[in-house]
Amino acid sequence: MRYCSTRGEVQGWGFREVLFSGYAPDGGMFMPETLPTITPDTLRSWTSLSYPRLVHEVCALFIPDDLIPRHDLDAVLSGALSQFSVPGAVRLARLGGGLSVLELFHGETLAFKDLAMTCTTRLLDYFLQRESRRATVLVGTSGDTGGSAIRGARGLRGVDVVVVFPRGRITAVQEKHMTTSLEDNIHVFAADGSSDDIDVPLRCLFADRELVKEHGLMSLNSVNWCRILVQLAHFLYAYLQLSGLERTPGGALPRLEVVVPTGGAGNITAGCIMKEMGVPLRLVAMVNANDIVHRAVQSGDFSMATQVKQTLASAIDIQDPYNMERVFWLLSGRDGLQVKGLMEEFQRSHKITLPDALHRKVLHSNRVTCQVPGCGAEGGADCGSAGGGAGLGETADTLPVPGVGRRLGTAAERTHCVYYLRPTAWGVVLLTSVGNLLSNHRLWRVVLLTSVSNLLRNRRLWGVVLLTRGI
Ligand SMILES: Cc1ncc(COP(=O)(O)O)c(C=O)c1O
Repeated sequence: MRYCSTRGEVQGWGFREVLFSGYAPDGGMFMPETLPTITPDTLRSWTSLSYPRLVHEVCALFIPDDLIPRHDLDAVLSGALSQFSVPGAVRLARLGGGLSVLELFHGETLAFKDLAMTCTTRLLDYFLQRESRRATVLVGTSGDTGGSAIRGARGLRGVDVVVVFPRGRITAVQEKHMTTSLEDNIHVFAADGSSDDIDVPLRCLFADRELVKEHGLMSLNSVNWCRILVQLAHFLYAYLQLSGLERTPGGALPRLEVVVPTGGAGNITAGCIMKEMGVPLRLVAMVNANDIVHRAVQSGDFSMATQVKQTLASAIDIQDPYNMERVFWLLSGRDGLQVKGLMEEFQRSHKITLPDALHRKVLHSNRVTCQVPGCGAEGGADCGSAGGGAGLGETADTLPVPGVGRRLGTAAERTHCVYYLRPTAWGVVLLTSVGNLLSNHRLWRVVLLTSVSNLLRNRRLWGVVLLTRGI
């Protein structure tokens, strides 16, 4: 398995080089040169596998055996995924009406990032123990990635971690996860501006090839391919558990819709890759008022707003969904030249219009659909523009949440698992999205619940809204 850059000027890299990297030397992002296909028979043979086992299977497709022998890979990944507060690292809550929630927040920092981050940092450690090399990890964070990277890399010999977070734009819990780490290899800085503002100088550092070489600069943001690789397993696990595959032996594979809270677009990229590999998914990118992905899907308008809007869902307050470069590359038929042109223009002007052919693929190929929470329409339909309707994160303060709560039923009416949500959490985004989803039951659906850390802010739970019947 070799890796190349989305901008076409780098080919033939190995997994280890990609793991210890950030952006590719041509400014692009690393992707596998070819994607293996997961056949229906293989999918069927995996239906009983646990989440950690699936992470192993997926990683084994992309990490050559002669680089990390299978036995070692198993030990590294099992070690990483044994650190979660539920057995199997993730938990699936099956709600009524074909709707489920995949809880990805059972790690130390309460955000989904812990899953891929612990695997990635353990893989780094695997190599560092065998080689005398140093790495300097640069992390820009909108709140969750920083704490997760610190948890994963604290005390690792040979690694320094430099985290920069946007002052005043993250929750107290997130800030404490970062600033209370006393290890010598962890260096945390607050910067004014948004997380997108922080990404600009970081990208410049990665563009300085001498600096990258001298300090072994690498990323643990989802720029790093390994983060995306592990996240493929979220989709696979959800599919195998929920699609009803076992009820269609030999028949056409059923489809599963996955609702993906989207900021930097790492998860949605993983979903697109899984689709390319043969898993029949329908993806719904869920955004707040920072709706660039929504506009790109709906109209091909991939342009940043002048400012990152501060919403109640601060973890996805991102206007530069940098992983969309990987999606564009995949959907353009791996056209590095086209992607290079588009993304360089985007970096210059913060604004591009997707070429028609590419936009049609994004919109109509059913690879990414998009739904702004609360808009009340399915992806592909007219969801209205930013600021319209009650659903955007920007307007979440005034969302008619009690109404939604009534619609979903109260805790007293439903049993088992109850999610406590309040409007300072991006959980409101989840809530409103679920409200929409309940209005249409054509497909089996799963919502990726990526974090609950915001819920801890102010220690005041706003309301009990949501529900499950049986886990
Ligand atoms: C809680 C949470 N959900 C979703 C996201 C979006 O991540 P991405 O779109 O890169 O998968 C983030 C991070 O940016 C996050 O912290």
